[in-house]
Amino acid sequence: MLINDIITGVESPWIELFDPTRVHPLRSAKKFISENANVAKQYLKDLPGSAEDEEYAEIAPGEGKIIEKDGQKLAVSRNKHGKLQIRSAVCPHMSCVVHWNNAEKTWDCPCHGSRFKADGTILEGPVLHPLHEIQMKGDKLKVKHVE
Ligand code: FES
Repeated sequence: MLINDIITGVESPWIELFDPTRVHPLRSAKKFISENANVAKQYLKDLPGSAEDEEYAEIAPGEGKIIEKDGQKLAVSRNKHGKLQIRSAVCPHMSCVVHWNNAEKTWDCPCHGSRFKADGTILEGPVLHPLHEIQMKGDKLKVKHVE
């Protein structure tokens, strides 16, 4: 339709929309770079070694906390009955570390916005899998991948 309009000299409403010079990669680059820099910042902030090694007992009912144990980040929360719920704190989407949202009582991923219930099940994507389960193997922790 466009080529026909151009050849026949008809003014087309689509000409601006499909103009090959409409994309301005340099103008969009700033936003693209800042968005991805934030993802990298969130990822690096949570690398092993920066987590506080808190005791499980300090977690009150209805609260959650990231605890580092055996080099693994754990998303530990305590339900209202006092039972601990322990999952891997590594988001199954692209491996950022989730953070406890005390207002919503959820685990939220700062990188792309996935959210999980306190027990690790999915509330919102883009993630497609729940937080991985953690099991004890002898005196070592083992991450059990849940599909
Ligand atoms: S890494 Fe968690 S939502 Fe992408």
